[in-house]
Amino acid sequence: MIKKGDLYYPTKEFRKAAQLNDESVYDKAAENPIKFWEDLAERGIVWRKTWTKAFVHRPPHFQWFVGGKLNITESCFNRHLPALKDKVALIWEPEPLNEKPRRLTYRELFSEVGRFANVLKKLGVKKGDRVGIYLPMIPEVIMAMLACARIGAIHCVVFSAFSPQALKVRLQDTRARILITADGYYRRGQAINLKAAADVALAETQVKKVIVVKRVGNKVAWQKGRDFWWSDLVKKEKSACLPAIMESEDPLFILYTSGSTGKPKGCVHTNGGYAVQSLWTGKWIFDWRKTDIFWCTADVGWVTGHTYGVYSPLLNGVTSLMFEGAPDFPEPDRWCQIIEKYRVTILYTAPTAIRMFAKYGEDFVKKHDLTSLRLLGSVGEPIDETAWLWYSQNVGKSKCPIVDTWWQTETGGILITSLPGLGPFKPGFTGRPFPGIKTDILDDRGKSCPVNEKGNLVIRPPFSPGFFRGIYKNPKKYRETYWSQYGSKIYFTSDGALRDKRGLIRIIGRVDDVIKVAGHRLSTGELENAVNQHPSVAECAVVGIPDKIKGEVPVIFVVLGKPQPEEKIKPEIINQIKKEIGPIALPKEIYLVEDLPKTRSGKIMRRILKRFFTGEELGDFSTLSNPEIVEKIKKIIVR
Ligand code: WTA
Repeated sequence: MIKKGDLYYPTKEFRKAAQLNDESVYDKAAENPIKFWEDLAERGIVWRKTWTKAFVHRPPHFQWFVGGKLNITESCFNRHLPALKDKVALIWEPEPLNEKPRRLTYRELFSEVGRFANVLKKLGVKKGDRVGIYLPMIPEVIMAMLACARIGAIHCVVFSAFSPQALKVRLQDTRARILITADGYYRRGQAINLKAAADVALAETQVKKVIVVKRVGNKVAWQKGRDFWWSDLVKKEKSACLPAIMESEDPLFILYTSGSTGKPKGCVHTNGGYAVQSLWTGKWIFDWRKTDIFWCTADVGWVTGHTYGVYSPLLNGVTSLMFEGAPDFPEPDRWCQIIEKYRVTILYTAPTAIRMFAKYGEDFVKKHDLTSLRLLGSVGEPIDETAWLWYSQNVGKSKCPIVDTWWQTETGGILITSLPGLGPFKPGFTGRPFPGIKTDILDDRGKSCPVNEKGNLVIRPPFSPGFFRGIYKNPKKYRETYWSQYGSKIYFTSDGALRDKRGLIRIIGRVDDVIKVAGHRLSTGELENAVNQHPSVAECAVVGIPDKIKGEVPVIFVVLGKPQPEEKIKPEIINQIKKEIGPIALPKEIYLVEDLPKTRSGKIMRRILKRFFTGEELGDFSTLSNPEIVEKIKKIIVR
């Protein structure tokens, strides 16, 4: 990269070879964003019928490519097959070092998708049905998702490290009748039994059939007539499966995400717009070339895994890598080994991972040949300047551009990042809005904030084609969460941000009760619900506090109904969280307190609790109904 002041730019060679190296794209897109997306939609996507209207806006609802018909798998496979049939679509690296990787060509992956699509059909899955997928990072998760897409079923992937209870809630909300899971997977050397977790979740759901991938050979309980081995089912099927022809606006998938309240929200994504946005954001932001080996480290259970782990690489005919396990297992340099072994050219990961590797030290990195890398990406949480520079110097050897990509489950794809062939890149700033995206930063009254002033990041019409279209079965929540702060035509992201004099955007973090723990999106409300389920807990408050590695971590303040010894109650609360959400939500600390700071109307003042850890002034708490509690809690924390 070339450094100019506080900015970085791609090298001349990089720029010259880049997919997009012409600044004029920004102006052209800004002039008529709808036309801009329409032009892109005409290229690279197989349409069975062209749309009649590109963008229809009935605030707060909107649609893209209305009247268009397609099946996204035709753009992932059929379109490429003549040229790319023997190209590797997916490299799968298992966690155990002594196990062989798998490589699936475009043709092979397509055959497996077709076979599994036929399995689903035979089990009675129809267009529009919801299919639960609770699978780890194994190739079958991609096959299952795309098989659903092939027949027009709506896939609902649930992160495999989520607890049975979290799975149950999602299955209940979608009323899925089929669940696809596995007998297990490897994580840090352990064979986790996923089927056992699924079994717990299935009671009280409408799931009638369970398809189980044999991955680790775990012993599993079996319900005859309900449970089937994946391998038994697919071997009876042919690979040819005609695609269901979908309306552009038909749902493709539902992915649950955390909001301010305890209940997760099912974000509904549609076929047409999502396909267009996935294809083009990936192509331009990762600057894909024929020879690239792309590694997106995100789990497929999160939106990054959906869009840039599955759909976008396939739509672009790229080879991508999927890794089953923990990137620092069995040694901290496992991820370097993987890059070296497969000659990975583009790495897309989260700041938490970068900070973790930085902590292990440069020696691990130096042991490996990382020269294959030509582009780096960051996602999921703000990347601080130190981590950015470490990533750039030690991993990118100061030559790779870094695309710091901002987006959300709701937006379906990346909306803010400087493009790799153009820049500029500035540590701590995600960069420029993607061409055609109209962002703004507003103060509480709805006025645009001046340069360098913090405000709320919003997106103006026409948003983007890959945006979600609603919260599954909850239009009220959709309206309230995203379209009520500044009226029904401005999308409220819930992120605080500022922009510098060049218009580069810095994301400060969430302004709601969502916390990003190691890039994972969690809601403090969800955690509070989990803790409150413990019979001894009278009330609790959860706040996210800064953490050097994970960005943010939850801490919990608990008021007990009746006194209990700490050593007994704390592990119980931990178990409660594991049961309700999963290990990713575990708190850094649990504080037992006699009361929580409250306003006179009884509202818990989480802000004050958070300030104990951020070093900010505690502020004026004389208006609390119980100001004396602040000192008492402080004593407990510093103890
Ligand atoms: C945060 C993940 C700073 C942000 C794709 C957003 C980021 C939330 C960045 C969405 C980034 C995502 N810099 N913050 N580059 N990317 N975020 O739905 O707070 O899991 O609102 O989607 O992650 O999280 P989600």
